[in-house]
Formats: sequence, C-alpha cells, structure tokens
Amino acid sequence: MDEQRFADVDNHFDEVLGGPDPILTAALARSEEAGLPPIAISANIGRFLHVLALARGARRVLEIGTLGGYSTIWLARALQSSGLLVTLEYEPLHADIARQNLDAAGVHVPVEIRVGAALETLQALEDAGVDPFDLVFIDADKEPYTEYLDAAVRLSAPGTLIIADNVVRRGTIADGPSDDPQVTGIQRFNAAVATHPGLRASAVLQVVGVKGYDGLAFAVVDDPEAVRVPSDD
Ligand code: SAH
Ligand code: DHB
Ligand code: MG
Repeated sequence: MDEQRFADVDNHFDEVLGGPDPILTAALARSEEAGLPPIAISANIGRFLHVLALARGARRVLEIGTLGGYSTIWLARALQSSGLLVTLEYEPLHADIARQNLDAAGVHVPVEIRVGAALETLQALEDAGVDPFDLVFIDADKEPYTEYLDAAVRLSAPGTLIIADNVVRRGTIADGPSDDPQVTGIQRFNAAVATHPGLRASAVLQVVGVKGYDGLAFAVVDDPEAVRVPSDD
C-alpha cells in the first residue's frame, strides 16, 4: 500500500466525520499566508485530541508548541466551560498568528499564549504554583521532549493524560543510534516514558495519513509527587 492511499483515506474520514470546518480551514490559510511551516497536526488527529479531551472531561489543558493554534482550537473546543488552555510558543510571529486564529475561532474558554522558550515558560508555571492540568499536549522542538515530559508530570495530578506528537518520525527512532538530534531527542523521550517514576501507563500509536508516517505517545500520570523536588517549607 502506498502513502497516497493513506492520505486518501485520511481525507475520506475528514469528509465523513464532518468535512472541512471553515474556522479551521481559515486558521490554516492565515498560518500559510504568514509563512508558518505546514506542520500542524492533521484534521483527524485534531479530532482524536478533541475526543480524548472530552473523554478525559478536561477543564485545564497545557500545550507545548502552539504554531498557528490549529491543535489549540481542536483542544479548546473540547473543554468544559469553566476551562482554561495555556499554550507555549517560542516564535512571536507564530504566537501572533495563533492569537488571531483563536480570536477568529471564538472558542468558549480563555486561551493564554505564553511566548518564550518552553523550558522557561514551564518553569514559570511551576514557580507560580498553577493548578494542575488535566491534559498536556507536547508538540514543540524535539530535543528537549524529555525535559518537557518531566515538567508536564510536575504540572499534573493523578490521572492527567500526557500526549506527545512525532514520536515515530518515519520509523527512524527504531533504527538505533542516530546523528540527528531530533531523532535522539525522541528516542530519549520514548525511553523516559517507559521508565518514568511519575507515570502509571503508557502507549504509542503509529499514525499514517496526510502528514506521512509518524506517531503519538500517550501516558497517564500516577503520582506527580514522585518527581517533585521536596521544598523546605
Ligand atoms: N501544535 C501545533 C504544531 C506545533 S509545531 C499544531 O498542531 O497546530 C511546533 C511549534 O513549536 C512551532 O511553532 C515552534 O516555533 C515551536 N517551538 C519550537 N521550539 C520551541 C521552544 N523551545 N519553546 C516553545 N515553542 C517552541
Ligand atoms: C514536523 C512535524 C511536526 O508535527 C512537528 O511538530 C514538527 C516538525 C515536520 O514534519 O518537520
Ligand atoms: Mg508535531
């Protein structure tokens, strides 16, 4: 079977399961116009994240890697009305386009876009002692994925669902040692998920479709205290 067939079926299900949504189509168009890279999740993965957030009954969601806010809109739409979405983005232009896309989408929950290197904005969230998130979506630069996982666990409660994009990378992660820091970043992340003291269960799904061949990792937090550094007070 060829990649075209996977893409065709992905498009088929996008049609069958509701068809192109004008708001999301406009968000992608604005992102493309502004020169953002075409690396948002696919419509069907957006749908899948939406389903998971609903199933989790999520109220508070943290996203690492906003781009133009495409995945953000899918997630925000699934939140309870008292909810909040915090999304972290390094590039001011991406954050600006995401803000425009989210305002145009008119999502019913507040979406805070925090601009900066995620390792720093995550630390700031921890320092501020924010309430735990119910769902965390990791989708930024691949080298520090393991550190993003650690921070995500610390910002979680028991039962928090952590999802990470791009953990298969056309299968390269199964080829052993690599010179590509993105591949080794993901390899390190996959190993960390397997042994993380703060996680209860984990799984990886391979994905084919319009974005080629990649995969998503899922983990459920057991006890964030297992990884929290004891404080003096
Ligand atoms: N989740 C988006 C896609 C994110 S693409 C969607 O599916 O719609 C990855 C994003 O991570 C890019 O916008 C990139 O600028 C951002 N990024 C890269 N390095 C980062 C860092 N150190 N901190 C925060 N964001 C970063
Ligand atoms: C690419 C795809 C992604 O989903 C991502 O988060 C980053 C990069 C890519 O295809 O290059
Ligand atoms: Mg991605």
